[in-house]
Amino acid sequence: MEDYEPGEHEPSRIGLTLETYILEGMLGRPEARGYFTSLLNQIALAAKLVTARVRRAGLANVLGTTGEQNATGDVVQKLDEEANETLMRALGRRHHCAAAASEEEEDIRILSTADSANYLVVFDPLDGSSNIDVNISIGTIFGVYRKDHDGPATMEDFLKPGRELQAAGYVIYGSSTQFVITTGKAVHGFTYDPSVGEFLLSHENIRIPDHHPTYSINEGNAARWTDGVKRWGEWVKAEDPSTRRPYSMRYVGTLVADAHRTLLRGGVFAYPADTKSPEGKLRLLYEANPFAFVLEAAGGVATTGTERVLDIQPTALHQKVPLILGSRRNVEEFLRFANG
Ligand code: AHG
Ligand code: MN
Ligand code: MN
Repeated sequence: MEDYEPGEHEPSRIGLTLETYILEGMLGRPEARGYFTSLLNQIALAAKLVTARVRRAGLANVLGTTGEQNATGDVVQKLDEEANETLMRALGRRHHCAAAASEEEEDIRILSTADSANYLVVFDPLDGSSNIDVNISIGTIFGVYRKDHDGPATMEDFLKPGRELQAAGYVIYGSSTQFVITTGKAVHGFTYDPSVGEFLLSHENIRIPDHHPTYSINEGNAARWTDGVKRWGEWVKAEDPSTRRPYSMRYVGTLVADAHRTLLRGGVFAYPADTKSPEGKLRLLYEANPFAFVLEAAGGVATTGTERVLDIQPTALHQKVPLILGSRRNVEEFLRFANG
């Protein structure tokens, strides 16, 4: 299988849908078939519904803001709200998801108290929402945990370190829509084929390169960085062909897009703590943990600068963390300066 490029598969892999892939236990968790499979399929269904709306944005009166702010004080876009409701409804439907925590909602939402509801889902329904109105890639991020007790889910159930994730992934609404998922063993990507209405296997067993001369950070924050990050920022831009510098800078401002590119091409993405955001900007539960889980499963690294993201014990649903993720050697370079 490894001899095949993305999009080129041995004949038995052609036309393999995400649903079949999950059903046949190919995500690496053959023991968890029924409920787990159904839950992931509901997330995929929500992704199809959201993609249908995103593709018509500009025509279907879904651009613009709702005039409100979410739990973290961000302006809420109409699509944020729609995507949030779409995911909530899809997750509630089959009674396998006890509760969900969304970036767009202050508290957890109880979705089912049935005995079959033994999973918990965290999600960022629409990531990169400031890019919606200017037609730049946006995404959806999700993580799945197990509810490990009887009785209704509580907020404390969601305060688990990311290493306990059962599955995590994201959907990128880019030049095509892709669904990337891992159960912690291998990372697989599926591309949406609108003509058949299915996610088809396109990137089996994604491995992040060990190094790539690219960095991704909001340079506009440079004056607010720590001295260590400033030194790293100078170093990546300095001329030194023996280390492939200067590196190229790529920054979309949608984590899903920046992290997806980093996963496929390599390099480093960083949103470190700075004087404006001493805790960082990105949210631990909905953004940092799912991506850390994906990146590690693909052979990459995700750290706050001082600790492994997946080891953090969360203390609040909307907690923020500094996030540095990417190729092993690129992240090491960053840490050498940041902590040096
Ligand atoms: P969201 O749209 O879900 O609030 O997330 C936006 C995040 C993330 O996608 C991106 O990496 C980051 O904000 C960009 O922040 P800056 O505009 O400060 O660079
Ligand atoms: Mn986001
Ligand atoms: Mn969001």
